[in-house]
Amino acid sequence: MSEVIRELLSEEVVAAKIKEIGQQITKDYEGKEIHLICVLKGGVFFTCELAKRIEVPVSLDFMSVSSYGDDTKSSGVVKIVKDLDESIDGKDILIVEDIIDSGRTLSYLIEILKQRNPSSIRLCTLLDKPERRVKDVKVDYVCFNIPDEFVVGYGLDYAQKYRNLPFIGVVEL
Ligand code: IMP
Ligand code: MG
Repeated sequence: MSEVIRELLSEEVVAAKIKEIGQQITKDYEGKEIHLICVLKGGVFFTCELAKRIEVPVSLDFMSVSSYGDDTKSSGVVKIVKDLDESIDGKDILIVEDIIDSGRTLSYLIEILKQRNPSSIRLCTLLDKPERRVKDVKVDYVCFNIPDEFVVGYGLDYAQKYRNLPFIGVVEL
């Protein structure tokens, strides 16, 4: 079965916003170093683009948690599939996520990471669907608030497809 994808945010619009958020982060972290934590797999395209727009020293690590099956509904279950390679003790952590929906994944992840003694934790997301929030999460940097529609592209998938689209699109089922 193939789906129709309607463009919601063009490649140019996304690139311009990431540049702007990168500049904001650079200002906020002046004189510091940032340890970026990319939430796999969806966060990977955004993390790479964002990292290139940050002008303070950056290091990178990756983590994978699962909360979704191969459909458009949350399973409500969150587990660590791949943990970080490095310690975050004493580091200024910036978690980079593709999208915040119910907030379950991030609230769980933040709780786990807090216990590892980072010097600070902030959260940056490409997309946010505030209407869908079930768990309260403080989001420090949001590129775009979007309506309650299922989106793909720029790392986001529908049944593992469409992550490679260079824009953000809505799946019309
Ligand atoms: P949350 O725990 O409900 O906030 O879910 C966050 C995760 O659900 C994201 O990291 C995505 O992997 C997935 N997700 C939520 N909404 C969408 C969407 O519209 N398209 C693709 N994935 C989504
Ligand atoms: Mg994700």
